[in-house]
Amino acid sequence: MTHPLRIALAGLGNVGAGVVKLLDANADLIARRAGRPIEIVAVSARDRTRDRGIDLARFAWVDDAASLAARDDVDVVVELVGGSDGPALTLARRTLAADKAFVTANKAMLAHHGLELAEAAEAKGVALKYEAAVAGGIPVIKGLREGAAANRIHHVYGVLNGTCNYILTTMEAESRDFTEVLGEAQRLGYAEADPSFDIDGVDAAHKLSILASLAFGARIDFGAVAITGIRHVIAADIAEAGALGYRIRLVGLGEASAKGLFQRVHPCLVPIDHPLAHVTGSLNAIVAEGDFVGRLLFQGRGAGEGPTASAVVADLIDIARGATGPAFAMPVAELAAMPAAP
Ligand SMILES: NC(=O)c1ccc[n+]([C@@H]2O[C@H](COP(=O)([O-])OP(=O)(O)OC[C@H]3O[C@@H](n4cnc5c(N)ncnc54)[C@H](OP(=O)(O)O)[C@@H]3O)[C@@H](O)[C@H]2O)c1
Repeated sequence: MTHPLRIALAGLGNVGAGVVKLLDANADLIARRAGRPIEIVAVSARDRTRDRGIDLARFAWVDDAASLAARDDVDVVVELVGGSDGPALTLARRTLAADKAFVTANKAMLAHHGLELAEAAEAKGVALKYEAAVAGGIPVIKGLREGAAANRIHHVYGVLNGTCNYILTTMEAESRDFTEVLGEAQRLGYAEADPSFDIDGVDAAHKLSILASLAFGARIDFGAVAITGIRHVIAADIAEAGALGYRIRLVGLGEASAKGLFQRVHPCLVPIDHPLAHVTGSLNAIVAEGDFVGRLLFQGRGAGEGPTASAVVADLIDIARGATGPAFAMPVAELAAMPAAP
């Protein structure tokens, strides 16, 4: 086997620790599939003393994540810190400027700065990959960018936030109120202490704006997504919807038409016989409709250590094999600036 692909990892939280565990557990299989070993050489997080359940002594530790970009012993930087700006964005910019490939799970950063980063990657001829940023372990980015690349896609929609889906489907199954179920989700670790990004629909909107760009060949336009979260859904709404043959899901919907680009996130009445009505708990699902392929359904775990690490390492395997294609399926200059549909 040839020389290893050398990785620097910024962020050793849920996803970062998961990546270390996955690369350890399946090292041989991954090397055979990638054509060469994938090896972490350097890591960064805030607290060096924190027990993460993984052996970090074999990696170089770096306090300033941004300095990972400049290391000569690194081919790819993986950003698993989070946040649309701040250290994640600094690291992304420096990594691409240093001619290195960049992998991220950070949908907030991509929704706000994805085009700038994609342009920087194109200019340098390096890969920018982000399978884990949308729907965790589900290979929907690859599915749209590669598997469905020959199609005109007119619709893309789905259940994009596992926290909201857990809350809504628990309210549905147990006839309970929003606040009570949210509190329980926080205790169980399914919802953040500050759950607003999830329950107000912002996280789903980040993901939708990325999906819409990929699916429709449009420039990312996060600011044009109309967003309503699930705070105001009450148990009686769910019961009434059920009596009429519907279930309530927080759905992100994208549509490209002659009127422009339509992007919305809001609670939807989903007919009981639609696949999205059967997406329960913290699962995610995405439907894309292409002119030749017809309806595609992607479903699986949209978050969590294992599924998200699986997507990050899939990107690393692609890079090890030599993939450098455009991040949003075509060069940024080819993406259409579609007006927001009314
Ligand atoms: N969790 C999921 O299931 C999931 C799914 C899909 C996508 N994502 C995305 O993946 C990314 C990471 O999520 P996560 O759940 O793993 O987050 P997390 O558990 O909060 O971990 C964040 C990590 O970043 C480190 N960090 C924070 N500020 C830093 C800085 N200035 N320099 C270096 N390291 C810093 C933290 O260090 P300490 O550990 O020392 O505090 C921690 O290790 C986010 O963009 C998130 O949106 C997560």
